[in-house]
Amino acid sequence: MTMTRSVTIQEGLDVYSIRKQFPILDREVKGRRLVYFDNAATSQKPQSVIDALVNYYTNYNANIHRGIHTLAEEATAAFEATRDAARQFIHAASREEIIFTRGTTEGINLVAYTWGRQNIKAGDEIIISAMEHHSNIVPWQIVCEEKNAVLKIIPINDEGELLMPEYEKMLGPKTKLVSIVQVSNALGTVNPVKTMIDAAHKAGALVFVDGAQSTVHLDINVQEMDCDFFAFSAHKLYGPTGVGILYGKKHLLESMPVFQGGGEMIKEVTFEKTIYNDLPYKYEAGTPNIADTIAFKTALDFIQETGKEKIRKHEQELLVYATSQLEQIPGLRIIGTAREKTSVISFIIDKTHPQDIGILLDNRGIAVRTGHHCAEPLMRRFGIPGTARASFAVYNTKEEIDELVTGLQKVVKMLL
Ligand code: ALA
Repeated sequence: MTMTRSVTIQEGLDVYSIRKQFPILDREVKGRRLVYFDNAATSQKPQSVIDALVNYYTNYNANIHRGIHTLAEEATAAFEATRDAARQFIHAASREEIIFTRGTTEGINLVAYTWGRQNIKAGDEIIISAMEHHSNIVPWQIVCEEKNAVLKIIPINDEGELLMPEYEKMLGPKTKLVSIVQVSNALGTVNPVKTMIDAAHKAGALVFVDGAQSTVHLDINVQEMDCDFFAFSAHKLYGPTGVGILYGKKHLLESMPVFQGGGEMIKEVTFEKTIYNDLPYKYEAGTPNIADTIAFKTALDFIQETGKEKIRKHEQELLVYATSQLEQIPGLRIIGTAREKTSVISFIIDKTHPQDIGILLDNRGIAVRTGHHCAEPLMRRFGIPGTARASFAVYNTKEEIDELVTGLQKVVKMLL
């Protein structure tokens, strides 16, 4: 494939050599080299992650924790190494607090179905915000409906920031849980989770932090944050789909009932009674997604080797540049202009449906996401059907943003 686009070498981060690690970035879409700006949906994978998957299936495919043969031991060691890497990545106190899931959604559901069902009673209150993803709304709605509890919503301002005084007013003796997104997938807003956690704890409530969008951009230290639960997905961190982490404070995970029953989550089974396994296996019934979990460690290694600080600086530069360029396009309005933002730009263009923007950009090889971004209540708050969303990753460049701007200028000419 032809390499027609130039790339920038940002200070401190060699984007060119990073791009070379992502084979998909060389492919063409509609006759042009791909510009991938749908990273908030899922990031692309470096060759090292792809190789880790192939290596597992080629050389040591075996079930884990069960066999004593060499392949089983190698697979188990590699699988458990990811748990240690994930623990380190989010600075959890112990590996027993790291539960493998299918992704953030399963992590939230796990806590809703276990801790939620055990602890939420009629009249209790769960607080979420107006900018939550459906995965941090629906599980709590299910619990509230079942228990006759109340779901309360922190409102936001027109910039897409939480109204903190409203939040503080909502907290009270009935509040049992606050479940809050750290970075909004649709707006890019970074929420002040530490302040929110401290306030919730003062009111006697626990806090679940949805880290699906934040973990790739921000330094995560669950001990400093003092959240009770934290969930994220591998596939937004340059890793494979179908793997995620649920972090929970050990004493909470120990006290919660089990989620799914099956192999691995047991110590002993008789027809009369089952004794459950210790943490973290208590919540890991059945054969897990072994290959993808192993390759997840390779993705974390990629991030650590590249340097999170460098990645963040690069992404912030892209965000600032893209914002200044997009603001100049006639009729374009950015949805989500919070003071604290990560590399997500949602926008609408007057008299234009977001889907048409997406299709026309795709014709130029540019991938953005369009629609409600699994945040329908948020779109309703802004009175819009959806947005077009460009979201940036470590391998994106200013030249690609220029192409987006050129594409949008053509969209405006064509549709207005
Ligand atoms: N939640 C993901 C997104 O924002 C899929 O695109």
